[in-house]
Parts: sequence; structure tokens; C-alpha cells
Amino acid sequence: MDNLGKFVIAIDGPAASGKSTVAAEIADQLDALMFDTGAVYRVLTLVALARGVSPDDEDELAELIDKIDIAITTPSVDDGRQYDVYIDDADVTWAIRDPEVDRAVSPVSVHARVRAGLLELQRKIGNSGQVVMPGRDVGTVVMPDADLKIWLDASLNERARRRRAELLERGIDLSVEEIRESMRQRDQRDASRSEAPMEPSPDAVVIQTDGREIEDVVKQILQLASLIPAIAEEGSPSS
Ligand code: DC
Repeated sequence: MDNLGKFVIAIDGPAASGKSTVAAEIADQLDALMFDTGAVYRVLTLVALARGVSPDDEDELAELIDKIDIAITTPSVDDGRQYDVYIDDADVTWAIRDPEVDRAVSPVSVHARVRAGLLELQRKIGNSGQVVMPGRDVGTVVMPDADLKIWLDASLNERARRRRAELLERGIDLSVEEIRESMRQRDQRDASRSEAPMEPSPDAVVIQTDGREIEDVVKQILQLASLIPAIAEEGSPSS
């Protein structure tokens, strides 16, 4: 199989740094697939919670991966979603964003067997064509040969404010302090785990988003993306 026309843009960073919003916009502008890698960890967490499997039970969690059929596709409902997430035939697009999943997903994702079990699925989608992938370890582990790697960051206060606004829109009212503390713990766990810790790839472009408009950040990334051969060729008048 050749790589003609293919590209991967990795957009990593901590919780609520704006990765998904920015990635969705970039994917839209480039007519690429947006594949949110966090969704696969969230799906597993949701199923584990529903079946009473502890987030600390590595073996049970790893076995669960083989029993569930995860599908992530372009959005079919116009309710603010960036993509559809299905487990078997159930639409869990919003359920995987619930605060209980927020709390349990990081402990679930620390386990080596869980990460190994979900890696193949992520790589398969990542290699499928023109893909924008937000995550934590996309540039370092999942797609180390990505054409462009971005590390998106923002202060904890700013990220907690953004997450509160997102939750409020869905009718979930938590204090900014509560969100900040839960996010702080999650970041700490994500960054200190031994398997694929959350960290910028040495060749990533680091972008701080505090006080910046989404459109402005998107524009900066699109400029960088225009240097990717598959994108430059498509945009050139001779092609
Ligand atoms: O981006 P998110 O909030 O949906 O991610 C949820 C969790 O999934 C995050 O706390 C850690 C884990 N995750 C990961 O370990 N590696 C990824 N590439 C994406 C997410």
C-alpha cells in the first residue's frame, strides 16, 4: 500500500487544552477524518463501569477490550458532537463524556495491557488516510512518524473554566474548584504513568492557548500543515 495523499496530524496535550475543538476544525478544513484517541479509553471505561469492572483490574479490563465492538465515525446527529461513538449498536457519544467517566478514565488508561490492547485499533484508524488525531501520546507512541506534531497547552485555571462551560452546556453544574482538582489529579496521573506518559514529543510544536481565540490557533496549525507534502501538493496549481 502506498502513502500517496495520506497524512497524520497529531495534536496532543492535557485535558481541556482545546485539542478536540481545534482538531475538529482542522479536520473539517482539510477534509480529513478527526479521530479522537481519548474516545477509545473512554469507551472502555464506560463499559467497565457498567459491568462493575474496577479501573484497577488490569486483566479484566484487557479482556474486556476483546469483547466490545467500538465504532467511531463522522457525526450523524446535529447536536454539537464532533463524531459518533458506538459500542455495538448503542450510541454512547455523550455518555463517554460524563463526569464519572472523566474520573475513572485516567486510572483505566495507566495499565500496560490496556494501552497495548487499544494501540492496534488507534494505529489502524491513524493509517487509514488523512487523519487528525488528538490525544496524549499520539506523537510519541501511537503515530511517531506523524507528518506534523502539535502539543497544545493552557493553564490549569483556563482549562478548568473551559471544561465547566462545556459541562454547563450539557446541564451538568460542577464548581470550577471541583473540576480543577479532578483535572489536576488526572494530569498528574497521565503524566507520571510509566507506560506512554503524557509528554510533548521532542519534535512537537508547542502552542500555548491561554487567552487565544480558537480560530487563531487553528490558523497557526493550518499554516504548519500546509508544509506537509500531501497537503502542499493538493494546494499547488500544477497538481
Ligand atoms: O482526551 P480525553 O480527556 O478524552 O482523554 C481521556 C483519558 O484517556 C486521559 O485522561 C488519558 C487517556 N488517553 C491516553 O492515555 N492516551 C491518549 N492518546 C488519549 C487519551
